[in-house]
Amino acid sequence: MAFWFNSDRERGRIFADAFARDLPDLPFIMDSMQFDPDDVRYVLTWNAPRDLDRFKNLEIVFSIGAGVDQFRIENLPPQVKLVRMVEDGIVRMMQEYVTLAVLVLHRNLQAYLAQQSEGKWQTLPARQAWQRRIGVLGLGMLGQAVIERLKPFGFPISGWSRSRREIEGVRCYHGPDTLGPFLGETDILICLLPLTDETRGILDARLFSALAPGAALVHVGRGAQLDHDALIDALDMHQLSGAVIDVTEPEPLPPEHPFWCHPKIMLTPHIASVTQPETAARSVIENIRRHRDGLDPIGLVDRNRGY
Ligand code: NDP
Ligand code: OXD
Repeated sequence: MAFWFNSDRERGRIFADAFARDLPDLPFIMDSMQFDPDDVRYVLTWNAPRDLDRFKNLEIVFSIGAGVDQFRIENLPPQVKLVRMVEDGIVRMMQEYVTLAVLVLHRNLQAYLAQQSEGKWQTLPARQAWQRRIGVLGLGMLGQAVIERLKPFGFPISGWSRSRREIEGVRCYHGPDTLGPFLGETDILICLLPLTDETRGILDARLFSALAPGAALVHVGRGAQLDHDALIDALDMHQLSGAVIDVTEPEPLPPEHPFWCHPKIMLTPHIASVTQPETAARSVIENIRRHRDGLDPIGLVDRNRGY
């Protein structure tokens, strides 16, 4: 039995130490170490390497990321479990990023930075938090964590998910029929949906037109959920007032892409949250223990739902 680590060396050293300490009976393979592929039961990787089928006895593929759309789940052998990353580092960083983005938009920071570059000292109208309605697409691990961080500011918060959710202090909507009403009461929309057949391209012209006038977007889900042209149009027609974008399709964007220098777009290179090796190693080790005890790993992907 062995664990094959398919990521960068720096993270690998941290994982190797954790495995040596907490799971010493499981050989940890990384870099150019020699091994028999038949021994490999577990793989940790960002996406499925082309030669994954050489691991005939594979039981679990652990995703380095919280998202798993980069795997073709249908191509994984049916007996192999796919597990997304559930670890504190990802959660904490996403809370920081989304709080930052919401406050940038809420407090007009993009406009003040533009004024600064023009040497202009001018007060802009300010809404109070209770007048700024936040809507979160996706009420899973990250959507809920972000909501908990935003609550103390006093924003009215609503959320949208596939199945019914109940979250204290949050107006919860679920299913496609409720998307319209949810959007109509949203001033800052945060996208934390996984990329699936249903959510691909969801951030489009129709969705933007259903938002409250002058709403803003924080996009931290996946690039392929966003229609770039529709966003530019909505911003240029003042239907939307601003956007903070962390994920795009493709990544990186080509140099001539309009997002780079649009005055109402703040763009970051998919860094909203990054898997932290210390906490991730703990989470993977715990899941291997669960698996050995006959329990489902935490973060097990449902093949039918695709997330
Ligand atoms: P979860 O699986 O915990 O939650 C997903 C949520 O989305 C659930 O509430 C789910 O509904 C909802 N959802 C899924 N499909 C639909 C649909 N068709 N209609 C309505 N709601 C839907 O995921 P996480 O919170 O852990 O992560 C969300 C995504 O964030 C990841 O998949 C990834 O793409 C992205 N991400 C981005 C990062 C970045 O740095 N930018 C870092 C990490 C993740 P239900 O509750 O009913 O299941
Ligand atoms: C993730 C990501 O899915 O980094 O964790 O986007």
